[in-house]
Amino acid sequence: MVNFPILRPRRLRNNKLIRDLVAETSISEKDLVLPIFIKEDIITPEKIESMPGVLRYPPDDSLIKYVEESYSNGIRYFILFGVPKYKDDIASSAYDKNGIIQKSVRLLKETFDDKIIVITDECTDEYTSHGHCGIVKSIKNSYYVDNDESLKIHAKIALSQAEAGSDVIAPSSMMDGVVGAIRKELDNAGFQNTLIMSYSAKYASTFYSPFREAAYSKPAFGDRKSYQMDPRNSEEAIKEVALDIEEGADIIMVKPAHTYLDVISLVKNSFPEYPLAAYHVSGEYSMIKAAALNGWIDERIAVLEITTAIKRAGANLILTYYANEIAKWLKEEMPF
Ligand code: PBG
Repeated sequence: MVNFPILRPRRLRNNKLIRDLVAETSISEKDLVLPIFIKEDIITPEKIESMPGVLRYPPDDSLIKYVEESYSNGIRYFILFGVPKYKDDIASSAYDKNGIIQKSVRLLKETFDDKIIVITDECTDEYTSHGHCGIVKSIKNSYYVDNDESLKIHAKIALSQAEAGSDVIAPSSMMDGVVGAIRKELDNAGFQNTLIMSYSAKYASTFYSPFREAAYSKPAFGDRKSYQMDPRNSEEAIKEVALDIEEGADIIMVKPAHTYLDVISLVKNSFPEYPLAAYHVSGEYSMIKAAALNGWIDERIAVLEITTAIKRAGANLILTYYANEIAKWLKEEMPF
């Protein structure tokens, strides 16, 4: 048969220009959010052993310089994580006016004003001696995280972050009702325009381990399975996201991103009208980094392929420790 095959998909892959013309997905530095760890009581940036290439910054000129460099690469969105020196049972350093995050937000907004968007992770794990994402109560020999007591603290932390000037509050505790509690607190205090980006479908994942070293936030006992989602579930993500939307979330999130592409796709298809964030988490970062440092993988191609996959699955924005590198690579020829 002379005319066989009639349909030849390969024609669209003939050369790079044709491939670029018909590519369905592209990433831009405007899709990227850079996480930054800020630590109290250090004078120079500090390395994080399990996350080569990522540093903890003191809230001073070195932080400003890092944000300036990122800005010149094209990065405009930053999510801040605090590493406080003082921890107690009720996370009081998380809502202290002069806490590490409040100080850092003020510094960044005074310096960069509306040129950047500052997002603040809202949780208690870095600020509590027990390392849990809420208030811990005990009965006999066991403990539990008290949901409704925790909501009061989360609302307080969110308000103090908004007062410091945070543009977007990002509750990551997975407490039931946390988005509603925060929305109410912010609205009552006149912060109707402060956004909420909720970690809606956040899984109990081992891929957060390097982060817990970075932020000193490993639970002192137990685990997070009574509040973070079970990796075996995806339909449950629809319920979690629906509740957050009902409670007033502006942006929803699936986390981790790379390991949960199916959940990203499911959530995007279920709620197409809501901006969806995905968090390429610390362990996912460190796996690529480790392979790259061993010479087993081309870091640039791997990161661009994975980030494109997260976008292709349905994420509108991506939180990634690779934001600066990606922004630089985007100025060069893409590997596809
Ligand atoms: C909670 C929080 C965590 C991460 C973001 N927010 C840690 C956790 O739930 O244990 C993890 C991010 C990452 O692994 O990169 N404050």
